[in-house]
Amino acid sequence: MTDDPYGDERLVGLYDLDNPDGIDHAYFRALADELKATKIVDLGCGTGLLTRSFAKEGREVIGVDPSKTMLDYARKQPGAEAVTWIDGDASAIEQSGDAGLVISSGNTMMHISNDDLPGVLTSVAGALKPGGVFSFESRNPAARAWEQWGRDATYGERDTPVGRLIEWMDVLEVDEGRVVFEAHNVFEDGSDAVSITTLYFRTAERLTTALEKAGLTDITIHAGWQTEPLTDTSRLFVFRATKPVD
Ligand SMILES: C[S@@+](CC[C@H](N)C(=O)[O-])C[C@H]1O[C@@H](n2cnc3c(N)ncnc32)[C@H](O)[C@@H]1O
Repeated sequence: MTDDPYGDERLVGLYDLDNPDGIDHAYFRALADELKATKIVDLGCGTGLLTRSFAKEGREVIGVDPSKTMLDYARKQPGAEAVTWIDGDASAIEQSGDAGLVISSGNTMMHISNDDLPGVLTSVAGALKPGGVFSFESRNPAARAWEQWGRDATYGERDTPVGRLIEWMDVLEVDEGRVVFEAHNVFEDGSDAVSITTLYFRTAERLTTALEKAGLTDITIHAGWQTEPLTDTSRLFVFRATKPVD
């Protein structure tokens, strides 16, 4: 058992196969280009697949993640030298006030506890330049995704580059948007890489209030990566919030 749900090297090696470059990555890249961002911070960058794709001439890219396993993998990937990798959480983000864009993809913001959220958003705001944007996604609690995360619904077996893998999830606790689940990954040798993850499902109102308290404004929320309008049953919130120009 590991405290870090991304702490098993074999699973980290499979992460990009299971979470390939897609419409979400295209959204964040288009936003970076739209903002003409010359400095981008990726909070909770994980394996850095998206992070590395931001890199281009005249742009500084920084990836921050507390998982040593994820970051060690990121550092070894092609193009990794174009990114500055920082081991840590939001407290490690330089309060430089010059980033054009801070992003947090793959529902990373849902890993932040309610107690930590204000501090994280203050750090994000401190990194941004006036007019800079923070963008991230978070699941809508109203869609109750965790109800699909039981053992029967998630049990599967598949062949992977590291051999046959049997996997399933078990929800351990649901309490006011705080969902604790266990993920099992049984490899061919019989070992089970089991981890416990806590995710925080927050309403759009709660996230909006937290962003505003951190001094961010012009908050927009869409229900998907192609500016789909929000409804009561939308599964996803895609947020943008801007640091005001004084
Ligand atoms: C689902 S992965 C997403 C990785 C990547 N952003 C992506 O889009 O594929 C969640 C990431 O959040 C990181 N994480 C967990 N807690 C965090 C925290 N408090 N601050 C920043 N990142 C965190 C994990 O280490 C992991 O790499």
